[in-house]
Amino acid sequence: MKISTIIDGKEKRVAIVPETTKKYVDLGFEVVVPKGAGINAGFRDEEYIAAGASVQNGVSNADLYLCVKPSFEKELKLKAGSYLVALLSPFQNQSILDKMSSAGINLCALEKIPRITRAQAMDILSSQANIAGYKAVLEALSEYRRVVPLMMTAAGTIRPAKVLVLGAGVAGLQAIATAKRLGAVVSAFDVRASVKEQVESLGASFIEVENRDIGENSDGYAREMSSDYKNRQAEKLAQVISKADIVITTAQIPGKPAPRLITKEMVKSMPDGAVIVDMSTETGGNCELSEKDKVVKIGKVIIIGYTDLAARVACDSSQLFARNVFNFVSLMVKDGKIDTSDEIIKATLWNN
Ligand code: NAI
Repeated sequence: MKISTIIDGKEKRVAIVPETTKKYVDLGFEVVVPKGAGINAGFRDEEYIAAGASVQNGVSNADLYLCVKPSFEKELKLKAGSYLVALLSPFQNQSILDKMSSAGINLCALEKIPRITRAQAMDILSSQANIAGYKAVLEALSEYRRVVPLMMTAAGTIRPAKVLVLGAGVAGLQAIATAKRLGAVVSAFDVRASVKEQVESLGASFIEVENRDIGENSDGYAREMSSDYKNRQAEKLAQVISKADIVITTAQIPGKPAPRLITKEMVKSMPDGAVIVDMSTETGGNCELSEKDKVVKIGKVIIIGYTDLAARVACDSSQLFARNVFNFVSLMVKDGKIDTSDEIIKATLWNN
């Protein structure tokens, strides 16, 4: 069976890396990668060749295409009967995916991998959110004009930065850990009371909202809160945000627009030079004033709305992505044939 990837000018990550090339070859796959496929992530063509791949110009004629986040320019022309395994953003790309499916192209949307124990080694959303949470803190620092840790010098003392993280899921916990390592005073808030312990074990303080609802459903995901709770939450957050130097927002409710947590007024109340990184701009933003893929300045506050934070650490995010995909493909291909009967593979199929 022949596998390949497709280069997309906008995406720096790559779904097949030299390490996984070798694993595919060992399993009997023929691996073909387009010239320069891994260059933006730091992988040279020679490394792919040394791992057993062949390098070709343009899109090759494969059975299985493994991609990160396609722009659907080249993918639309894939041959009928082939499989495209990628982050397909099904909510945004419904009509294009329907069109491809009608043309006989089989589609696996990696974001639909169920979050069950058996699928952990394939959980691309988590591996990428982890790196993105780390990078969000570094992006904030690139705009922040002060130091983060407490510094006691002969010329005086510099106070540590106050970092607030909203949403303590995968990205949020990594943002907390990163900010702590840098010496910040970190606090965090999440509607799920169950994450308090995890937040505190990272050395951050957990912000409590009185009379908490149980903020999660039976699957352990956040759920929409009552308007009474939202009002109390907004009041509490307004107090904390007005004192925060850096805010990283990661709040999401799966399948819903991002909850609005930071209003215009809250932004205006922040200290001069404060920075917000809104990680949820793809789904509408946690901050009223953030803009997708832009850095905006509101008064003296800077708001970063990048949606490609993991891709900004393209080498490591590609390594993790490629390993997740390899685990997925290992489950999907049995005895040289594609078998979609496993519940994990089935859950990702378009028009399933
Ligand atoms: P996750 O589902 O693991 O965590 C989200 C957290 O938000 C949960 O702990 C949930 O309880 C919490 N939450 C929900 N509603 C809330 C509210 N009203 N107030 C406070 N907390 C609330 O999600 P993950 O994987 O950590 O991703 C977080 C966000 O980052 C998502 O929107 C995801 O799409 C985005 N993301 C952005 C990237 C970028 O480059 N900008 C890259 C990767 C992920």
